[in-house]
Amino acid sequence: MVGRAAKAWASPNLAFIKYWGNRDDLLRLPMNGSISMNLAGLTTTTEVEWQDSLSADSLILNDTPQTGEPLRRVVAHLNALRQRLGITGHAHVISANNFPTGTGIASSASAFAALTMAAVSAAGISLSERELTTLARLGSGSASRSIPSGFVQWVAGETHEDSYAETVAPPEYWDLVDVIAIVSSTHKAVGSSEGHPSAKTSDLQTARVAGAAARLEICKEALLTRNFAAFAEVVELDSNLMHAVMMTSKPSLFYWLPMSLEIMHAVRLWRAEGLQVCYTLDAGPNVHCICIKSDADEVRDRLSALSGSLTIRVAPVGKGVQLEPLSLA
Ligand code: PMV
Repeated sequence: MVGRAAKAWASPNLAFIKYWGNRDDLLRLPMNGSISMNLAGLTTTTEVEWQDSLSADSLILNDTPQTGEPLRRVVAHLNALRQRLGITGHAHVISANNFPTGTGIASSASAFAALTMAAVSAAGISLSERELTTLARLGSGSASRSIPSGFVQWVAGETHEDSYAETVAPPEYWDLVDVIAIVSSTHKAVGSSEGHPSAKTSDLQTARVAGAAARLEICKEALLTRNFAAFAEVVELDSNLMHAVMMTSKPSLFYWLPMSLEIMHAVRLWRAEGLQVCYTLDAGPNVHCICIKSDADEVRDRLSALSGSLTIRVAPVGKGVQLEPLSLA
């Protein structure tokens, strides 16, 4: 690729305090702030080339040209970037995940963080990190948190400009590891983009949102003082609250499988026995077991002992989005 081209990679992130439901679905302005860690070792790498001669955008994902929903979402995001930044032409986008698609690890955060960085940079536009987080947010809310490095807070805000993400602490600040128990890798029935609008149909969403800012402060304080007991309590509570909203939405979104619940019970028991581990689940049945690095091997072994059919991935705290040298065309 030559000319108006650039390449970037980004990692997905795992929220300790969750984002669920928007005040504005189009701008993806969340009902509440959230806090997360980037997942090292898992990456989406994306090359973007803008050309005035192209009549449409195109997307190759994991070596396969795309036509359906993935292309529609990428085109919608490129439209937003064209409109807001005055970029001309259409884009040829080549993207790949180093974690197999369909493992149940959500890739929209890393995908839209890498796409935003590559598309903006390919257009020769230089933006602040904060501006990049607001633009990534338009593609997928959680993508805003994959732009900054390490532990990241997304400030809810009330307008496009003030709903942004920033680093709370660098990756090396606390040796946390996400030991991911992949309970099911089949594609989730209702994805988060469809799920967010349903949050307001649950009677419990108002209560969840009302307490979210306080939980975020407790979580941030626990993180900054490396207080695992306080951290574990608020992280599990926040995940349970989000899933209570999901389960009581109309129609009900029920992501837990029997094995998810079995692992949640086991994690609580292991913590009572002295392991520094807690659980959290996103919009799917997989259980993220967050633990202190020195306990990660033990947690992994115990998960394997629970069920031989679990696939397990281990991710320490990762960096934010990065530009990469272009490969030769
Ligand atoms: O950014 P989205 O639309 O994929 O939503 C992410 C929603 C959760 O993963 C369930 C929670 C979160 O804060 O990441």
